[in-house]
Amino acid sequence: MCGIVGYLGKRKAAEILVDGLRRLEYRGYDSAGIACLYDQKIDVIKNPGKVRTLRERVESSALESIKKANVGIGHTRWATHGPPNEVNAHPHQDASGHFVMVHNGIIENYKSIRSGLAQHGIECISDTDSEVLIQLIAFCYEGNLEEAIAESLKKVKGTYGIVVMTDHEPGKLVAARCGSPIVLGLGKNETLVASDASAIIPHTRDAVYLEDFDMAVITETGVQMFDLQRSPVDREVMEMDWDACAAEKGEHAHYMLKEMFEQPDSIRNAIRGRLDFEMGTAILSGLDFSPRDAAMINRVLVVGCGTSMHAGMVGEYAIEEMASILAEVEQAAEFRYRNPIITPSDLVLAISQSGETADTLAAVREAKHKGAVVAGICNVVGSTIARETGRGVYLHAGPEIGVASTKAFTCQVSVMLMMALKLARTRRMPLNEGEELCRWIERLPELVEQVLAQSDAIKAVAQKYADCENAFFIGRGYLYPAALEGALKLKEISYIHAEGYHAAELKHGPIALLEEKTPVVALLNNVPGKDKTLGNAEECRARKAPVIAIVSEGDEEAGEGFNDVIVLPDCPPCIAPIPTVVALQLLSYHIAVARGCEIDQPRNLAKSVTVE
Ligand code: G6P
Repeated sequence: MCGIVGYLGKRKAAEILVDGLRRLEYRGYDSAGIACLYDQKIDVIKNPGKVRTLRERVESSALESIKKANVGIGHTRWATHGPPNEVNAHPHQDASGHFVMVHNGIIENYKSIRSGLAQHGIECISDTDSEVLIQLIAFCYEGNLEEAIAESLKKVKGTYGIVVMTDHEPGKLVAARCGSPIVLGLGKNETLVASDASAIIPHTRDAVYLEDFDMAVITETGVQMFDLQRSPVDREVMEMDWDACAAEKGEHAHYMLKEMFEQPDSIRNAIRGRLDFEMGTAILSGLDFSPRDAAMINRVLVVGCGTSMHAGMVGEYAIEEMASILAEVEQAAEFRYRNPIITPSDLVLAISQSGETADTLAAVREAKHKGAVVAGICNVVGSTIARETGRGVYLHAGPEIGVASTKAFTCQVSVMLMMALKLARTRRMPLNEGEELCRWIERLPELVEQVLAQSDAIKAVAQKYADCENAFFIGRGYLYPAALEGALKLKEISYIHAEGYHAAELKHGPIALLEEKTPVVALLNNVPGKDKTLGNAEECRARKAPVIAIVSEGDEEAGEGFNDVIVLPDCPPCIAPIPTVVALQLLSYHIAVARGCEIDQPRNLAKSVTVE
């Protein structure tokens, strides 16, 4: 979703801002802009559309502030209130033009603030909820920017991550957060501020994450932090372990392709040092559970959204099957509002690549409030969910830039399997079974390599179906979440209408939609119930739907008679979702490329959904 970047230092701000916005493009956006302050004057350049358009305008600008300023703010907007056009794009200015702000989040009471301002003769010119906030800050200003911001924020309901500057106090940026992440990058003689670390990694590794209701005052002499009552607060400086080139796509055509091919390594990183072969268990020290704590857990609730929720479903199956602990997975947004029953012996696992998804965060807060033990499974170190859960497991997948999640999913499933193993070994799982599962988890990178090696063969299959408008994915057991994830990948990047179903469910309605041009991807690998799925695939074929069969090595006959067959390495059922989903990622990718779709920034999608 929206991205923020700000700079104060000795270098040319405009270049750093535009480069930062380019690095935030992956979050999804539809307009972009920057504001620079030089010689007591603020200039704003903004436009609907791409950062590259903004870059061209900035490079050809004759404005002195754009050419020379050492301080400025920038934004990529993902439209919520009002269409993507120049007026609605950020940065927003107050009516006098002396104050300028970028904002992520939603000001829920913007209508009442706007009518209050109107009574004082202040009219807003955009459709956005954001503009009212900078008008309000200007209205409250009595000579000190942070005081005006603190006053204004007390009147605001909703979520915000903001950075503000004014030409009345030229050497200063003020940032504040509530519900929308803000991270400061502490460089040498310069400070950066951004909504996510990828915009600051090229400049510094030292990062400070703001907590809700924190304000940071950034000047040449450094950063001071306060709460809204203006009492100083102290926040830890964290070292970011991602390097800048990990967020570049190198020779790959797309980030998604690069990230798919990184999966053997990212899984290696996710499992490194975490398998204990001697005890046949997993070491997940961030969970901070003794075997006794683990033995006390009566139920595991997994909350997440999108791809993360699908990884959570694999976890649900594995935890129930291996550890015999009741497990449920739930869409995080639903969890908060349906008033779930939670007890102190429940473990709530919040699963999120970004660690910033608003619905998942809200579920974490609700679960904590109701007394559950809460742990996070996140990729982004220091992200809000990681911090608020206080315990959990990092994926170590490295930065995931492609909006369609790939390597995060396979790392999430790897972590979920280790979580199930750890819990299972405190219960009934014998040592030898634990050792056996350790061995299979250790082999995951190799299995994924075998699937990636088939990219060209999968591409050939993809090209046959690139012009379809509907597709179905069916599977059973551990492959049911894989079917859901396969369908999600395809719709996200190719805009083909795709649905994943439990193979048995197809008959209860969706089968009515089958016809010659509607392919069905049948997950027929070796898992319990495969023969029944095979029967369901035959039912599809009988209705003339082309069937793409995914089968296990050694069981090729399961694919006989179907239109296309993809053979994956044989492995136990709980392991199968990983190679299967990698094959489905490749299928979606090659279909989307054949259709000429935008791969890394699909229309309307955001990488990190920070509003409910
Ligand atoms: C968005 C992204 C998805 C992602 C979901 C959850 O919808 O486009 O790819 O799966 O958010 O994100 P999270 O960061 O919580 O895993």
